[in-house]
Amino acid sequence: MPQPLLDVRGIDTFYGAIQALRGVSLHVSRGEIVTLIGANGAGKTTLLGSIFGNPRASVGSVCFDGEDITTLATHRIAPRGIALVPEGRHIFPAMTVEENLVMGTIPVGEAHLDEDRAQMFELFPRLQERRNQRAGTLSGGEQQMLAIARALMSRPQLILLDEPSLGLAPLVVRRIFEVLREIASLGKTIFLVEQNANHALKLADRAYVLVNGEIRLQGSGRELLADPEVRKAYLGGH
Ligand SMILES: Nc1ncnc2c1ncn2[C@@H]1O[C@H](COP(=O)(O)OP(=O)(O)OP(=O)(O)O)[C@@H](O)[C@H]1O
Ligand SMILES: [Mg+2]
Repeated sequence: MPQPLLDVRGIDTFYGAIQALRGVSLHVSRGEIVTLIGANGAGKTTLLGSIFGNPRASVGSVCFDGEDITTLATHRIAPRGIALVPEGRHIFPAMTVEENLVMGTIPVGEAHLDEDRAQMFELFPRLQERRNQRAGTLSGGEQQMLAIARALMSRPQLILLDEPSLGLAPLVVRRIFEVLREIASLGKTIFLVEQNANHALKLADRAYVLVNGEIRLQGSGRELLADPEVRKAYLGGH
């Protein structure tokens, strides 16, 4: 197997005395779409945080593109080529759409700003229409699109998404997942954590199931969609 782009090996992560991750190992190869599904409190956000050293894994290792980044300072990690679309989007509400996109260039500088902004407006025509609107006044779906576009402005090789479908109407969710497929076709590698198991497993090449901070199952998206345990716990038993 070629070296994975992201290689997480046996990590434990704690909040004080509370252990949130237990021996979590997973990998994402270049060009793959990988998802991790899990219920509330399973540790999904903690896992994405642990890739950025916030909170930092206390046992195990995180390697990106062949480099051990387990103890690298958090602000040095994004410039390596990883971007996070955080849970709850966290766009800058008082800034315009365009200003939010400029903020996304911080890890890499503005050398490619014009070109990349034009590409984002092609991918998200709605953002172009609203380029001068304050981001806080966008709809939830538009804010999610903006959060994704802002992450892409740092030209990441790997994009991490924390529950992008949260709180959005079914039609908007479908559009978000279509966009993720388009982003993958641009050559980006995607690691997505979701509670929306149905959409996530249909999109993903491979998937993991996280239960109480531990990887319980793994397989292709298709295998896990058909798995009785997954169907019962995450797909309403249908
Ligand atoms: N800052 C914190 N301090 C203490 N405990 C925390 C902290 N953040 C998370 N936890 C605990 O760690 C566990 C995992 O939380 P995490 O937010 O990673 O779950 P999650 O899978 O992202 O859940 P959700 O789907 O609700 O976002 C939970 O038990 C949570 O209470
Ligand atoms: Mg979370």
